[in-house]
Amino acid sequence: MSVTPEPLIQSTISTSPTEAPFCPVMPVLSIQDLHVWFELRQWGFFLAGYVRAVDDISFDLAEGEAIAIVGESGCGKTTLMRTILGLVRPTKGKILFANKNICELGTIGLREYRSHMGYVQQDPYGALPPFLSVRRILEEPLIINGVDDRGERERRIRKALEEVKMAPVEDFLTKFPHMLSGGQQQRVVIARAMILGPKILVADEPVSMLDASVRVEILKLLEGLRRTHNLAVIYVTHDLSTVRYFSERIFVMYAGKIIEQARVNDLIRHHQHPYTRALFEATPDPDAHNATVLKDVPPGEPPSLVKPPPGCRFHPRCAWKIDGLCEVEEPPYFEMRPQHLVACWLYR
Ligand SMILES: Nc1ncnc2c1ncn2[C@@H]1O[C@H](COP(=O)(O)OP(=O)(O)OP(=O)(O)O)[C@@H](O)[C@H]1O
Ligand SMILES: [Mg+2]
Repeated sequence: MSVTPEPLIQSTISTSPTEAPFCPVMPVLSIQDLHVWFELRQWGFFLAGYVRAVDDISFDLAEGEAIAIVGESGCGKTTLMRTILGLVRPTKGKILFANKNICELGTIGLREYRSHMGYVQQDPYGALPPFLSVRRILEEPLIINGVDDRGERERRIRKALEEVKMAPVEDFLTKFPHMLSGGQQQRVVIARAMILGPKILVADEPVSMLDASVRVEILKLLEGLRRTHNLAVIYVTHDLSTVRYFSERIFVMYAGKIIEQARVNDLIRHHQHPYTRALFEATPDPDAHNATVLKDVPPGEPPSLVKPPPGCRFHPRCAWKIDGLCEVEEPPYFEMRPQHLVACWLYR
C-alpha cells in the first residue's frame, strides 16, 4: 500500500503545461511549446512511429541567468539542447531569440544565430577535430564568421586561451587534441565556445567525463566566464550535487517533458514530484556517515518515448499513483509557491 507524500506547501494555481513559466527579467531566449519527434523507420523505409524526445516544453531564459536541466539518461536533454542550438529542426513550437523564431531561419540566419550561442559538449575529445592544432580549432569559427584580418584572429585566439587559463598560450597553440589532458581539452572546447562572444552558453554535461578535481576547476571556470561576460548558461547534468553551485533555476525532465521547475534552493529543499524525490534520494552522498547503504534509483525502467504511457508519464513507476486519474489525464502545472511548478496530480 502506498502512502501519499505530504506536500510541503499546498498548491494554489494551476497552469497549462504549454504555458511559458515565469521568467524574472526580459528573456534572451523563449522556448514555446517545443516538440521534437524523430521518425522511427522500420527496415529503413516504413514509418513505424515517432520517438518523442522533446514533447511540449516551454521556458524562458533571462539575460545572464544560469539554469540547469536535470534528468535521467535518454529523457531528451541533448535533443532539447541541439534544438536550441539550431542543429535539429523541431517538429512543432517556437524558439524566440531577438524577436525572431529561429526555427524559421534559413542557412545564413541560422549561422548568424549560432554565433550568439556557445556549445560545450560532454566528450571534449570527440568534440575536437583530431587533425587540427589548437590554433586552427579556434580560428575556424572566426573564419566562418567573416573575421578576415589574420592579426585580429590571432589576438582573439590568444585572449580566448588566456580566459580559459591555458597559459602560457604559446605552449598550447601548436598542440593537437591528443597531446592535451581531458581537462585541457575541455578548456579548448570552452575557448572555442566563447571565441565569438556568445550571449548564451549551452553546456551539455560538461564535466561528466572528467575526474573530480578537474570538474570543480571547469565549473569554476564556467561560473567565472558567466559573471565576466553576463552570459546566460543552460547547464545540463545528471549530477544534482553540482547544480546548486552553478544555476539559479532547475528544470527536471522526465521522458521528454519538464515535470518540475523551481529556484535552485527551493527545489533542493522542497522538491515535490515523486520522480524528483527519487532522483534526490538516488544521489550518492560522499559523507561516510550517511553512505552506509547504496541509495535506490527510481524503480522500474524509463518509459518508451515511442509509446509513452498515457496520463502522467511517471505513473507506472510512481508509488503514489492515484488510480483512475494519473494513468488517464496528463497533469497540468500546479504552482507550489512563486516560480515553483510541479506537474503532478498529488498537488491538485
Ligand atoms: N537523431 C535521432 N534520431 C532518432 N532518435 C534520436 C535521435 N537523437 C536522439 N534520439 C532519441 O531521443 C531520445 C532522447 O535522447 P537524448 O540524447 O536527447 O537523451 P539525453 O537525455 O541527452 O540522454 P543522456 O543523459 O544519456 O545523454 C533517446 O531515446 C534517443 O535514442
Ligand atoms: Mg545527452
